[in-house]
Amino acid sequence: MDRKSVVLVGFMGTGKSTVGSVLSKLLGFRLIDIDALIEKKEGKSITDIFSRDGEKHFRDIEEEVIKEIAGIEKAVIITGGGAVLRKNNIENLRKCGKVVCLTATPSEIYRRVKAETHRPLLQVDDPVKKIEELLSARAKYYAEADVFVDTTGLTTDEVAEEIIKKLT
Ligand code: S3P
Repeated sequence: MDRKSVVLVGFMGTGKSTVGSVLSKLLGFRLIDIDALIEKKEGKSITDIFSRDGEKHFRDIEEEVIKEIAGIEKAVIITGGGAVLRKNNIENLRKCGKVVCLTATPSEIYRRVKAETHRPLLQVDDPVKKIEELLSARAKYYAEADVFVDTTGLTTDEVAEEIIKKLT
């Protein structure tokens, strides 16, 4: 692996954060978490940004933060599930390195996220339906990635190794 960063994209619950953390250690790269940078910049949680300022504001800050890190080397960059929605973001993320999309089946995603409450988009009456709707609306954006790894049934270490294998 050269100095190029690795960018992780993919739907909520596909394991970007856990895999990113392992991958950054394996590669000796720093870890950059876009959602954490957004929270730092705004001084509040993602949940509060969504409820007080709305999704559009969140997306604007997400775009700003991604622009700020564009071109950064030797990092594993973890993005939020909706970061692929704006064309500018994909272009800026590509300046960092290869874009790797983690995938999982809708039922596996639901199994992983159901106990959690920090994702405003899934705090609805029928989260399974919401997951399916968002996945189909976003499929064409995730398809922009360079490499795909299906995480269903794999451990975090296995996913990290699979990414390295596909990138080298
Ligand atoms: C979002 C995913 C979240 C976070 C925000 C919006 C999305 O990140 O950025 O709640 O639109 O899919 P994770 O994919 O890390 O859960």
